[in-house]
Amino acid sequence: MKLSRLDQEMLEGRHGEARRRAMDGLVTLGRAYGAPDLVDIGYAHIHAGMAMYKDDVELMEELAALGATVAVPSSANIANADLVNWRQTGAPEKLALLQQRAAGAHKAMGSACAFTCTPYWAGHWPTWNTHMVSIESTVTIFCNSVLGARSNRDGFFAVYAAIAGRYPRFGYHLDEQRVGTHRVDVRVEPGNVSDFSALGFHVGKQVGGGVAVFDGFKRRPTLDQLDALGAAMGTSGGISMFIVPGVTPPYATSEQAFTGRRPNDLIVADEQGIRETYAQFSDGSDFDLVHVGCPHASYEEMKQYAALLDGRKVAAGVELWVTTSRSVRNMAAEAGYVATLEKAGAKVISDTCPMSCHFARTASPDPALGVEPPSLRGIVLDSAKQAKYVRDMIRCPTLLTSTEKAIETALTGRFVPRYP
Ligand code: F3S
Repeated sequence: MKLSRLDQEMLEGRHGEARRRAMDGLVTLGRAYGAPDLVDIGYAHIHAGMAMYKDDVELMEELAALGATVAVPSSANIANADLVNWRQTGAPEKLALLQQRAAGAHKAMGSACAFTCTPYWAGHWPTWNTHMVSIESTVTIFCNSVLGARSNRDGFFAVYAAIAGRYPRFGYHLDEQRVGTHRVDVRVEPGNVSDFSALGFHVGKQVGGGVAVFDGFKRRPTLDQLDALGAAMGTSGGISMFIVPGVTPPYATSEQAFTGRRPNDLIVADEQGIRETYAQFSDGSDFDLVHVGCPHASYEEMKQYAALLDGRKVAAGVELWVTTSRSVRNMAAEAGYVATLEKAGAKVISDTCPMSCHFARTASPDPALGVEPPSLRGIVLDSAKQAKYVRDMIRCPTLLTSTEKAIETALTGRFVPRYP
């Protein structure tokens, strides 16, 4: 692999141990994938340091102690607890205090303490052709498919890339990877963000690791709808990118998106596919919790939740969680939406989500933290992504419905399905 003079110097440790370690990891990654060289990156969405995983926060602290600093604008991904309002989720205090230490490491390294899976709603908005890295698949997919930036689905290597400001040129950093493989014939007009999530889950299963090209949306999907579509596709499949001609830069038509290649089997996106996803994630009969805000809610979604809950009250015995980033939460607080939600009895939670918090049974926390995942009868959700992970990680039944009906469920105490 061809290295620039600066790459070589970093590899030799002439820019400190943290950059040496980072470059060593990136060169190993690049060689494994046959990358010809490394590119400059312009943005990094990186690991938070997860308190539910033994020694994981400590790993970020170790890098900070080595003097690591990020070379490009960087944001921290979702964490295992709300660092400030953790009491309202029932998180053990020791877990929350450990999670708070991750913020210290990020501040020392110069990365923004965003602690969210939707950093774009918090102002991190990489533009067309920006090479970037992301530990969160939802971010990879949104940035590739909506913003036209270039990102793989990265793991811890994203931290190394942030420190070095470099990344091996392979995968979705290459033009040849960013072309359509499957044509999706859209024969339905999804009615809301949750329908886009259900549709994305249905399509993602069939696309696997390819690039779906959506043909036939009657109107341009909103940013929230595109976000939900991609998040769900990345959960049921291994996708990193989809293309909506006219939305995804630089493709104006589906012919351009395939750049002369023949698409694989045609995928039909119809109402049946949406209904099947709702049915697949509605095995519960009872619930303790209603959740909205997966991926972490945008300002527009916070506004919508506030309108639905204004002047009303969550039913006795029901918990309603609204999850969003701390930045969006601050904006929503200034607009009065957080007060409206809290007055209605909702809990507005940042930095985490149900499947990422201490509810998860698949994590390996230090026994000294005293994490005892609660026993839940079920969770009502409006996101196929969250539903899949609640099933797999919290191991409790789910009831998937639309956002409006999830909130109606919280208000009435009775599950309201998407389809009557
Ligand atoms: Fe974000 Fe949690 Fe959903 S990490 S995308 S809110 S499952």
